Amino acid sequence: MVKRAAAGTSRSSSRAPLARLCHRAVVAVTGSIGALWAAQFVLLLRADRQVRSVGVVMSESATRFVTPAALRAVSGEPVLSGMFDADAPFAVGHVQVTEGASVLIVMPATANIIGKVAGGIADEAVSATILAAQCPVVFVPNMSDHMWRRPAVQRNVRTLVADGYHVVSPEEGVAVSTLRPATGGMPSFEVILRALRRVMRRGRR
Ligand SMILES: Cc1cc2nc3c(=O)[nH]c(=O)nc-3n(C[C@H](O)[C@H](O)[C@H](O)COP(=O)(O)O)c2cc1C
Repeated sequence: MVKRAAAGTSRSSSRAPLARLCHRAVVAVTGSIGALWAAQFVLLLRADRQVRSVGVVMSESATRFVTPAALRAVSGEPVLSGMFDADAPFAVGHVQVTEGASVLIVMPATANIIGKVAGGIADEAVSATILAAQCPVVFVPNMSDHMWRRPAVQRNVRTLVADGYHVVSPEEGVAVSTLRPATGGMPSFEVILRALRRVMRRGRR
C-alpha cells in the first residue's frame, strides 16, 4: 500500500524549517513497501535537524524491502536488525537502542507487529525493542485496506491505544497489488511529524 500523492511532492514541502522534534528518535521498520518511505523519513529527520541522532531497528522482513546498509547510510549509525547478531552494534540491542530516545516510531507498522505488540510478544528485534522501550511509542500502520479492516487488526489497534501506545491513522493510498485507491496508505511526512510533536508535547506514553 502506498500513498496516493507522488512520494516527492507531499514530502518535500515538509522540509520547511521547524523547531527540533527531539534530541534522539528511533525508527523501527517492519516488512511493508512503506519501508522505502521509512528510509526517506530517517534522512529527513536528520537533514532538517528535527533530531540530533536517529537510531534504526529492523525486522527480518523489513530487510527484504530495504537493506540495513541503506538505513545505516541515512541514519549515520549502525542498524539493529537481529536479536543475536554477533556483529550487532549493542550488547543488548533491544534495550540499548532506545536509551536516551524521546520517541520510538514504528514506521511502517505491519499488521503482524501490531498484533504481536498487542499480544505482548517480543520474539525478534523490533517487537522486543517496543516492549522494552521507556519512551513514547508511535505506530504508523501501512497495509492493504483488506488487512486494515480485519476485525483482528482493528481489535489489536484498540488494544495498543488502550495500552498507551499512539497510532497514526492510515490515509487513502494506492493498493500496490491492484493500483486502486484504498485505505491503509502511509500518511504524509507532515502528518507524521505533527503527530510526533503532539506526543512530544504530552510527554508521556
Ligand atoms: C511485497 C509484500 C508487501 C507486503 N506489504 C505489507 C504491508 O504493506 N503491510 C503489512 O502489514 N504486511 C505486508 N506484507 C506482509 C509482511 O511482510 C509479513 O506479514 C511479515 O511477516 C511481517 O513481518 P514483520 O512485522 O516482522 O516485519 C507484505 C509482504 C510482501 C511480500
